[in-house]
Formats: sequence, structure tokens, C-alpha cells
Amino acid sequence: MLKVNHIVKHFENLTALDNVSITINDGEFYGLLGPNGAGKSTLMNIIIGYLLPDSGHIAIDNEMMNFENVALRKKIGFVPQEISLFLELSAEKNLKIFGELFELEGKVLEKRIAEVLELVQLQDRKNDRVNDYSGGMKRRLNIAASLLHNPQILLCDEPTVGVDPQSRNAIFDMLQFLNKSGKTIVYTTHYMEEAERLCSKVAIIDHGRIIEQGTVLELINLLNQKDVIKISKTPFTVKLLDKIKEIGMINEQDFHFELIPSDNFTKKSKIFAALEDLNIPGNLIEVSMATLEDVFLNLTGRRLRD
Ligand SMILES: Nc1ncnc2c1ncn2[C@@H]1O[C@H](COP(=O)(O)OP(=O)(O)O)[C@@H](O)[C@H]1O
Ligand SMILES: [Mg+2]
Repeated sequence: MLKVNHIVKHFENLTALDNVSITINDGEFYGLLGPNGAGKSTLMNIIIGYLLPDSGHIAIDNEMMNFENVALRKKIGFVPQEISLFLELSAEKNLKIFGELFELEGKVLEKRIAEVLELVQLQDRKNDRVNDYSGGMKRRLNIAASLLHNPQILLCDEPTVGVDPQSRNAIFDMLQFLNKSGKTIVYTTHYMEEAERLCSKVAIIDHGRIIEQGTVLELINLLNQKDVIKISKTPFTVKLLDKIKEIGMINEQDFHFELIPSDNFTKKSKIFAALEDLNIPGNLIEVSMATLEDVFLNLTGRRLRD
């Protein structure tokens, strides 16, 4: 179990983390979702003991984290936000160096290198210079490096930024496989779709504070309006806008209007009847469940990607 207890961290006048407490149970796929500057990387760096908090502490399996405690540090693998590899060296050489940092050597290290290369599917490129890799391959190698010592907890700090869609999916599959085989994953992201797809539990972080946490469903259930009604923008529906506004509030997006029904229209059947009365064809109307983006908007008044 990983416990973050009342962590406070200032950088001069800026409060990067403001009394952050979270508990991450074994086997969880835990998401830390928040916009740029929310404090995600600062928290990761404090968890691994690389940065010291001003107050509060980190505990792993009820033992206090401390950078000198190598045994404890070995329980964690860390994939930093910035790729950190020796670009002039091959993948295999990189993994040798990282393995030695974790006191692995000889046949044991060789075996682990082969295993992690297979996991990230870079065996056939292991002798190539890392500089010639794509962004996604570099990221996968960075993940491989973090797994050499077989940690029970893996921290991934925005591992899909700058990665092509194919590698992104490979990273998702790999992390889900690791999680199913028992590893605890802590995953930071500013993409709500990633948190929804991957995480068994999500903490929403903003301006250094955890503003809400729970499963994705629990978070969405906090909203009064759990359904979103979208009406495609067409010349026809644009002309009807004033009439649609009688049903509720309109949020205009690039290609559709989001309709937030007023209190007179709590029943979906009533909303559809009203839209039908306007002769809006059914294929221009879509109902979908609210997302973590809506939760974030509701809690902060801002969009995640502002
Ligand atoms: N070493 C540092 N010195 C000064 N300010 C920092 C430092 N590291 C982070 N910050 C600031 O702390 C805040 C949180 O940053 P960070 O943890 O990197 O956020 P995130 O990873 O969520 O984007 C930001 O305002 C950032 O500019
Ligand atoms: Mg960051």
C-alpha cells in the first residue's frame, strides 16, 4: 500500500502541493488527473523520494519513504515525464546501465533485460542507437528500464505525451497487462479519456489540491446532469436554436450543441417529445453519459484543456 500523507510543497511563493493525502491500495490502477501545472510531477518526484516535501510524508507498506532506504525504493519503478535515456547508446546498453543502478548484474540482469525487452516489444531493435527510435519507442524503452528490478508499484508520469497512437495503444495494453499480473500502477495524465479507459480509481488534482476522488462512475454520479444531449449543428438546427433554448440551456461546441434540459424537462421522454415536435431528425440527436471532463468543469468551472 502506498500512502501519501498531508504532503505540502512550496517552490518559493508557489504552493505546488497543498495538503495532498491519498491512499493507493495494492493492485489498483490509480489515476491522477489534472491540467498542466496541477502538481502531478511534483507529487511523483516526492513519492520516489527525489524531492523532499515541506511537510507530510510518504509510506510504502507502512514504512516511511526515504531516499537512502534502497530496499524500499526498489518497491517502486518510475517512468518520468521527460524521456531519460542515453541517446547515443543502444537499448541493451541503456538497460545494462539502469539495471546496475538497481544492483542487478550478470545472468540475472541479462535475463531481466531480455524479459523487459520482450514486454515492450523492442527485442529486434535492441542493438540500435536510441536516438534513431520514434518517440513511442523511446517511451517504451523508458518503461522497460523502470521495470528491470521488478517493482511492485509502477509510477508513470504522462507516459503517452509525444507518442504516436499505435505506441499509445501498445503502452495501454502493456500497463493493463502489468496491472492484471498484480502490479500497482499510478498513472498521471491530463487526458480524461485515458483516466476513463484505464483507471480503477481516479483522483482529480487542481492547483496542488485533490479536489475529488473515486471510481469514474462515482465521480460522474456527483453530477446532477449525468446525461449529455448533443444536437448536431446543421443549417436546419441552427435556425431552430431559439426554440431548442425553450427546452434548456445550450452549450455551443464546434460541431454540435450540448443541451442541458431545464427543470421542466427532467424526463428524457419529455425532452425527446419536444425535440420531435420541432421535427429534428433522430439521427441528429445523441445522448451520451457525462465524462470526467464534465466532472472537472463542474468542480472547477474550467475545462481540463484550458
Ligand atoms: N523545480 C521547480 N521550481 C519552481 N517551480 C516549479 C518546479 N517544479 C514545478 N514547479 C511549479 O509547480 C507547479 C506544479 O508543477 P508540476 O508538478 O510539474 O505540474 P504537472 O506535472 O501537474 O503539470 C507548476 O506551477 C510548476 O511551474
Ligand atoms: Mg507533469
